[in-house]
Amino acid sequence: MANSTLCFTLGFYLFICFYSQRVIAGDANPLQDFCVADKQSNVLVNGFACKDPKAASAEDFFFRGLGKPGNTDNAVGSNITAANVNQIPGLNTLGISVVRIDYAVGGINPPHTHPRATEILVLMEGTLLVGFIDTNNKFFSKTLEKGDVFVFPKALVHFQQNVGKENAVVIAALSSQLPGVQVVANSIFAANPSLPDSVLSKAFRVTQELVDFVKAKFI
Ligand SMILES: *[C@@H]1O[C@H](CO)[C@@H](O)[C@H](O)[C@H]1NC(C)=O
Repeated sequence: MANSTLCFTLGFYLFICFYSQRVIAGDANPLQDFCVADKQSNVLVNGFACKDPKAASAEDFFFRGLGKPGNTDNAVGSNITAANVNQIPGLNTLGISVVRIDYAVGGINPPHTHPRATEILVLMEGTLLVGFIDTNNKFFSKTLEKGDVFVFPKALVHFQQNVGKENAVVIAALSSQLPGVQVVANSIFAANPSLPDSVLSKAFRVTQELVDFVKAKFI
């Protein structure tokens, strides 16, 4: 009796070890060929409900839109054209998406995080300064030339800046159907409703007047 209990306990732990390793080693396996997002559905799930697979078509897996540069005539001098589950319903549950980013000379994609995705970026044109910061505040940075690739690990703060003399353009893949984005400066200074000045002045160790000065830039 004691022996079989021991065996069972051991077996149970081996089972847990085996499966927990498999779980952390990669994406969950799909349970069907695809699950094209049904944006009309009233069913709330983590992601989107699936539309009837028999009604799926090539259009659900297609997006024509990364061929044209975005307009970089804005405060940061960059423009992101996204192709995620919002543009391509067939990406639902697949854990992947892509963006095109255009940068004017000197333009930045300001420090931001993707809470749900690692990003791998390929520089198609131009010269780009890129970097991310880990949770020990170590800064990892590189200047990329055409054809270079750089990785931003999931959830870490990162940025890019065009340090060349021409426009720059990248294609980046992200490990989520909907990576999400939080731009650090906007989260802090342009939250709605706004964060109390007392919090920001203490956090940044500056006067409340300086906090208001920065906040005003984001209106
Ligand atoms: C990005 O470019 C598109 C297409 O030119 C434009 O409609 C959009 O307003 C631009 N976004 C920003 C933030 O400048």
